[in-house]
Amino acid sequence: MWGGRFAEPLDPDLLAFTSSFDGDRRLLRWDVLASIAHATALGEAGVVARGDAEAIVAGLRRLLADLQAGTLAIQGDYEDVHSFLEGALYERIGVPAGRLHTARSRNDQVATAFRLFVKDQTAALVSEIRALIAALAERAAQSIDVILPGFTHLQHAQPVRLAHHLLAYVWMLGRDADRLIDAYRRVDVLPLGSGAIAGIAFPVDRKRVAEMLGFSRISENSIDATGDRDFAVETVSAAALVAIHLSRWAEEIVLWTTDEFGFVALADRVATGSSLMPQKKNPDPAELIRGRAPRVMGNLVALLGMLKGLPAGYHRDLQEDKPATFDALDTVRACTRAMRMLLDGVQFVPKKMEAAAGRGWTTATDVADYLVRKGVPFREAHEQAGRIVQRAAAKDVALWELSLNEYRAVSPKFDADVIQAVSVEAAVESKDSPGGTSRRAVQAQLTAVGERIRAVDDWLTASARALRVPEGLAAG
Ligand code: ARG
Repeated sequence: MWGGRFAEPLDPDLLAFTSSFDGDRRLLRWDVLASIAHATALGEAGVVARGDAEAIVAGLRRLLADLQAGTLAIQGDYEDVHSFLEGALYERIGVPAGRLHTARSRNDQVATAFRLFVKDQTAALVSEIRALIAALAERAAQSIDVILPGFTHLQHAQPVRLAHHLLAYVWMLGRDADRLIDAYRRVDVLPLGSGAIAGIAFPVDRKRVAEMLGFSRISENSIDATGDRDFAVETVSAAALVAIHLSRWAEEIVLWTTDEFGFVALADRVATGSSLMPQKKNPDPAELIRGRAPRVMGNLVALLGMLKGLPAGYHRDLQEDKPATFDALDTVRACTRAMRMLLDGVQFVPKKMEAAAGRGWTTATDVADYLVRKGVPFREAHEQAGRIVQRAAAKDVALWELSLNEYRAVSPKFDADVIQAVSVEAAVESKDSPGGTSRRAVQAQLTAVGERIRAVDDWLTASARALRVPEGLAAG
């Protein structure tokens, strides 16, 4: 591709070292589509004669058809997918292929193909997250009357509804979807037409190219556009947080399947056995969701590290963007899907949860709240409730098993209704604040989640429409 300046080819070992062709062939589809748009624009602008432009477009379409049919041999000693594309086109149409690279560089070419890829993969990941959110919200709706201890410091804290607990993950994942959608807006910018760094010297209609490829905008600065990988950082960062949320939840599932917790039983289809111990049933899928999260974090750090020493403009370092981004998006999508399958095989054990909810004096705060309602300052009420807990602990009974006399020995403000007020059910229902764990508050959350899912669906429909735009180029 640059023979004129060189008397001998690159050392084969260094070609192998510098080549990205093994990995970036995944971009081929997008690179061909972007090339069709580019060739079309070159023809329309009269930069390349109509006949040649049409020959190029027809050749690219055949290439794409072969790629789709699985009959394209994607091989050869190429530095990357872009040089392969030009070589493969030359084999098909000969000399006119040499006009395709007019008014473009691999620098704006790779940025364009990569952005198309990231857009597509972002939509796929958002769709996977949406499916998990919906499945989780359904399980929450089904378990609205199950109560378990809420934990802080992994110690029994206050009783909550299982639905409330599950919805905590729904909201985490909802923010994840939001973040990906927000990052997508900044991926959705066309760099093509920036050339190597300075822009292009031909009247190609960049906005028209953007339209053909389904990009919302064109880049505003050719130096920035060719050296910018912020979009990959943002997308992988949002994906890393998905991985972290899934990992936290996976850790919890592992804990909950232990005999010590026993909150969850796993269906056989989502568990594994031991090669040695016949009795074992292990939560391997959850452990691997947890175990893969750090890989995604590593990919994010690799991207940030790749960028930090680079002056403006393109550097070959940027080629490292693809392995990191591919691996991050593949991993997170696979983990999200695995979590949905795992969830399907998770059987909650309400009896265990409800028994645990009653242990550990989890309604001690409600003793204090009771006194507050009788006019006692909270700090004092806290102190007196603490003494009630002491009495219950000494007798090894629950707070609602203490006699009214015991309560009155601590404060004359206690009346007979305190026994009912410190029950697990009353404690849960009293948390009727928006975002709280009362039945009504949790139902309101479920309604809100339904609305959010519909908003994500609208986005998915719109992005799918935009992503189908370049597909049209394949058919003509
Ligand atoms: N394989 C390269 C990459 O991924 C394509 C751009 C090469 N450009 C260059 N000037 N060497 O970044």
